[in-house]
Parts: sequence; C-alpha cells; structure tokens
Amino acid sequence: MRNTAALFLLIVFPAMAQSRSDSADIERGRELFASNCGFCHGAQAMGTEQAPPLARNRLTAQDRNGEILGPIIQAGRPPQGMPAFPSLTATQISDIVSFLHARAREIRGPRVPEESLLIGNARAGEAYFNGTGNCSNCHSAAGDLKGVASKYSPLLLVTAFLTPKPQAIQVNVIQESGAALSGVLIYADEFVVSFRDSAGEYRSFSRGTLKSVRIDDPLATHKQQMARYSDDDIHNLLAYLITLK
Ligand code: HEC
Ligand code: HEC
Repeated sequence: MRNTAALFLLIVFPAMAQSRSDSADIERGRELFASNCGFCHGAQAMGTEQAPPLARNRLTAQDRNGEILGPIIQAGRPPQGMPAFPSLTATQISDIVSFLHARAREIRGPRVPEESLLIGNARAGEAYFNGTGNCSNCHSAAGDLKGVASKYSPLLLVTAFLTPKPQAIQVNVIQESGAALSGVLIYADEFVVSFRDSAGEYRSFSRGTLKSVRIDDPLATHKQQMARYSDDDIHNLLAYLITLK
C-alpha cells in the first residue's frame, strides 16, 4: 500500500477545498489564470514546455486554502522563471487558487470506495493513539472524541484527523515600548504580521519594529503529524477511531 498516503491527499484535500469556494470564485479565477498564468502554465493549468502543470501538482494537492500556493504566486521564483505577482490582491489570488483546486478535481480519477479504507488494526491504532502518536496528550476516547465515529463517515473521519477544521490562530506581540497586543492571525510572513485584536481592530506590524511575536496554531501538531504517519498508522488509527461510537 505504498501510495495510500498520496491517495489520501488526493481524496481529502480537494474535497476540503470544494466546500470553501463557489463557482463564481472559480470562474473569476479561471479568467485571471488565463490572462496572467496561462501563457506559461497553459490555460487549463496542464503545463507547457515553459512551466509545470498546476492542476496535477503535488503542491496543489497539499494546499487547502491558498496557504501553500498563495505565497508562491505572490513572491514567484524569479531565478527559476516564475515571475512574482505582487499586484494581485488577496481575493484575486484566492480565486486563482479556487480555480486550480477545481481543475485538480476535474482531472482526478474516480473515487475509491470507502470500504477500501477499512483494512487497519484497531488495537494497533489504540496503541498508536496512546503512544507514538501522542494523540492522548490532547484527546481522550471517553472525552472529546467519544461518539466521533457516529459524527463522520469513514472517509470524513480520516479527513477529520488528518486535517481538522481550521481553528483561529492566536498572535501575541510585544511592541518596542513594552506594550502587549494580541488577536487572531490574518497574515504572517518573515517580514509582516497582521491580526484582528479583541476589539475587532485590524493591526499590522513590520516584524522589525516589534520586540517579540508569538504565533500559536492549535493545529500545529496535526500539521506536523501529517509528515510522520505511515500508511499503516493511518489505517490503524481509522480502525480504532471507528470504534468510538
Ligand atoms: C513567464 C512564465 C510564467 C508565468 C506567467 C507564471 N508562471 Fe508559475 N511558474 C513558472 C515556472 C518556470 C515555474 C517553475 C519554477 C521552478 O522550477 O521552481 C513556475 C512555478 C509555479 C508554481 C510552483 C509549481 C511547483 O510545482 O513548484 C506555482 C504554484 C505557479 N507557478 C503558479 C503560477 C500562477 C498562479 C501564475 C499566474 C498568476 C503563474 N504561475 C504565472 C513560470 C510562469
Ligand atoms: C496538541 C494537541 C493535539 C494533539 C497532540 C492532537 N490533536 Fe487532534 N485536535 C486538536 C485540536 C485543537 C483539534 C480541533 C478542535 C477539535 O475539533 O477538537 C483537533 C481535532 C481532532 C479531530 C477532529 C474532532 C472532531 O470532532 O471533528 C480528530 C479526530 C483528532 N483531532 C484526532 C487526533 C489524533 C488521531 C491525534 C494523534 C495522531 C491527534 N488528534 C493529536 C489538538 C490535538
């Protein structure tokens, strides 16, 4: 089952992206893509001799909501021939990303039946949950995950633990003056951090002007775990979680 993890990525990520974009976004994205990107990547994002395909692409499969594709589009990779697009707005980039996810869905083959996911070992999954996986640091079978199997179909249950619903990311900054501010992250890169404070006010700082910045993503562990799972771990965890009715 070497390719199962890749299979999960294909099944899970486009399905998530679908819920977050509607056809108007996709249509706007299609036009923006044709005029800004099609020359190199092909109007249908299938690639040309100049540039790689983006419809069938590892980064598109891994991206959920522009967090991987957005920064590449904005900054480009000028030395490799991918121009920067600093003038595209966040909404325009998001529309282009919706279009790319829609294209990825269009070319994806037929879905694998859900039963084919159910080949793991529940006891091995339980051991992983309480041991190597460290899941029990934050969850418990008798507590927050009680009944989780009644809430989701097998496929959505895999989705739920591979890529839980996005949670607000907390930001805490300390200004040069010593004043502390906190809020919910809107954007961060190596130069800038912006967030909405508890009063609903938009705040944006150049990182150089701040004494400290702390960003706490409640799902950081989940994101890191993605790289650590073997295919067996995923199957076994699913076999275990499915017993939590
Ligand atoms: C002038 C040609 C050109 C244009 C126009 C262009 N790209 Fe690219 N793009 C490239 C090249 C060449 C690469 C491969 C760069 C590399 O090898 O790292 C690339 C790479 C990328 C990648 C990373 C793909 C990967 O697998 O690493 C993304 C995402 C991307 N482009 C998106 C876009 C989008 C969206 C647009 C339009 C807003 C666009 N590009 C416009 C030439 C172009
Ligand atoms: C550092 C804490 C932390 C660790 C460790 C952790 N999770 Fe989570 N998990 C969360 C948070 C936060 C959420 C999102 C809030 C929620 O849905 O409970 C979440 C969501 C989930 C959900 C979705 C619950 C639902 O009702 O939608 C499942 C299933 C899950 N995690 C399983 C796991 C498994 C399996 C592991 C171990 C491989 C794990 N988690 C490790 C914090 C953690």
